[in-house]
Amino acid sequence: MTVFRKVPLCQLPTPLHRLPNLSAITGLDLWIKRDDLTGFAGGGNKGRKIEFLIAAAQDAGAEVLVTYGSTHSNFIRQLAAAAAMHGIRCVASTMAHPYEFEPASTEKEPDTGNRLLDEIFGAEIHEHPDGTWDELEALALTTAERLRAAGSKVMFIPVGGSSPQGVHAFALAAHELAEETPFDTIVFASSSGSTHAGLLSAFHGTKTRILGIACDPEPEIGEEFARLLNSYEALLENPRQFTKEDFDLNFEFVGPGYGVPSEAGLAAISLMARREGILLDPIYTGKAFAGLLELAQRGELKGRVLFWHTGGVPGLFTLPLAAFR
Ligand SMILES: Cc1ncc(COP(=O)(O)O)c(C=O)c1O
Repeated sequence: MTVFRKVPLCQLPTPLHRLPNLSAITGLDLWIKRDDLTGFAGGGNKGRKIEFLIAAAQDAGAEVLVTYGSTHSNFIRQLAAAAAMHGIRCVASTMAHPYEFEPASTEKEPDTGNRLLDEIFGAEIHEHPDGTWDELEALALTTAERLRAAGSKVMFIPVGGSSPQGVHAFALAAHELAEETPFDTIVFASSSGSTHAGLLSAFHGTKTRILGIACDPEPEIGEEFARLLNSYEALLENPRQFTKEDFDLNFEFVGPGYGVPSEAGLAAISLMARREGILLDPIYTGKAFAGLLELAQRGELKGRVLFWHTGGVPGLFTLPLAAFR
């Protein structure tokens, strides 16, 4: 059985508390897990994964980490900070929209939010014109090869930190709920899959439903999530085999596309802010919370529900005032 080593970066366990005003509004017994408060490099779920990824990078003697993501990736922001702290270079290939997308305007992507923080944390960002996720990955792999050829010891890190280490981080995060009365459903934003895979690994076979609200419209992500979880399970003593059917993924709330705010998501951000004083983000948690609200209204969510806040708050600071008027 593989032993995962971690380099502590986050303030764990993150707080868990009830949302009294939103419980009254939704008719749920609604709780929140505050991974926006992981306390590292602006917070968010990626910090948990990066604790294990940095340890793996150190164990491999890596001098450079190469990864990829969208311009406003929360993962790149936190990876850059962790790498800088540990004397490792962080190089990332980015696209504003790594898929077919017709922007409503030709305005350049704002270089505020996570893009600004990448710079502060010292990441080397290679920005590319929009293409597909596969093209973006290929560009990052080419960069990794070029750096290797120049003599650097490189570790390639999959998008969003979705490797067995990333899954392990969320399987462990589930233990932070061990003392709690079990939840009927845990709802969260899902994209590269390790949050979902880790929670499913921990809760499979229990009465708790693990419900990911997809922020990425591609239906094939279910298969990728199953492959990812199986690659983690293979490292355990008694591995189980998962298929895409094991992943409860709702695609209804992506809105105009990955990385593009939705009206329902913006409304959910306002509601959470005004009722509970908590900030969500426009790309992930706002959409996931919009999903939770709608499913509760339809009667498809009931009882004791946990919203796992995965962070992303710097993304709010790319938006114009008009988004909330
Ligand atoms: C704020 C936020 N929430 C949720 C997610 C989705 O997590 P995962 O990539 O593990 O599916 C991400 C990253 O993609 C994120 O940055």
